[in-house]
Amino acid sequence: MSTFKLPSIFIEVDAGVFRKHLPDGTALKAEYSRTTAASLVARKSGLFSVPQIVGFDPHSGVLESERIQDLTTLRQMAAAGDRQVYPALHQAGECLEAVHASLRAENVDLLPLPAFLQPEEERVFLHGDFTFDNVGISLGRLFIYDWSTASMMGHGNYGSRYFDLVWFTGYLFQTAPPRLFWRWNAEKMARVFLAGYRSRYPAFDPATYARLGVCLYPSMTDWWRHFCQGSSSSGSHLRRATFAFWRNVMARRWKVFLLGEARRSPVPPDAHELA
Ligand SMILES: Nc1ncnc2c1ncn2[C@@H]1O[C@H](COP(=O)(O)OP(=O)(O)OP(=O)(O)O)[C@@H](O)[C@H]1O
Ligand SMILES: [Mg+2]
Repeated sequence: MSTFKLPSIFIEVDAGVFRKHLPDGTALKAEYSRTTAASLVARKSGLFSVPQIVGFDPHSGVLESERIQDLTTLRQMAAAGDRQVYPALHQAGECLEAVHASLRAENVDLLPLPAFLQPEEERVFLHGDFTFDNVGISLGRLFIYDWSTASMMGHGNYGSRYFDLVWFTGYLFQTAPPRLFWRWNAEKMARVFLAGYRSRYPAFDPATYARLGVCLYPSMTDWWRHFCQGSSSSGSHLRRATFAFWRNVMARRWKVFLLGEARRSPVPPDAHELA
């Protein structure tokens, strides 16, 4: 059995079980019910899989799910320079649309965003922490797990569909591994992912995506700065300075990407060609 510690959770992995200890009971219950609801979407759509829950004890704060065998996350694929990451990112975009189209929950907990950033017609049940760390491939099948809203956004499970899209793409830029900085094509990865989503949701509006991205940009970059300080606090002054420099460059690249999307036509290029 191996164990590792993350900021507020504790994880144990053994041969067949992935066990998560979460001190925050509300977050644990939310993750349990969202994972259960997501399993139905996975079965109905046939597009992806969700690890099956095998144990849930809200009193001791434990959630157990089947261990996904030979899991390779999309981050690991990108970091290894595996070209298959692009079709996997496209598929992740398609799967996210299927989630938005069908995921349902009994309770509606709205994301803490102003109404103009999440108009009613764009509100859906969300994954909440959709990132390339929480999507992976196992034995040729795409898995989506960690169905809990990112702590920066509280416990919301419902809100603008563009939130999951902004979160996923922002993460591609902000968590680029520094040693791979020079060959980290976050722009291409983000474009392919968004194209996957748009292939099932032609009403995708790049300007709405970009507006939410620009509005969340300060809090997301700030949040990541604090998050990364933990992982980069060791090492020489030069190493920390280099890390901070890279992170700032990647944040700027994300801003440029968002502004580029804001100028894009809402109609995808292939639809122009068909017209
Ligand atoms: N069922 C599973 N089987 C095998 N590995 C898993 C499973 N679920 C998650 N993992 C791996 O463990 C990592 C951490 O798990 P998870 O994403 O659930 O927690 P977390 O990212 O720490 O939570 P949070 O994002 O809420 O802080 C994942 O990125 C993935 O690589
Ligand atoms: Mg995770």
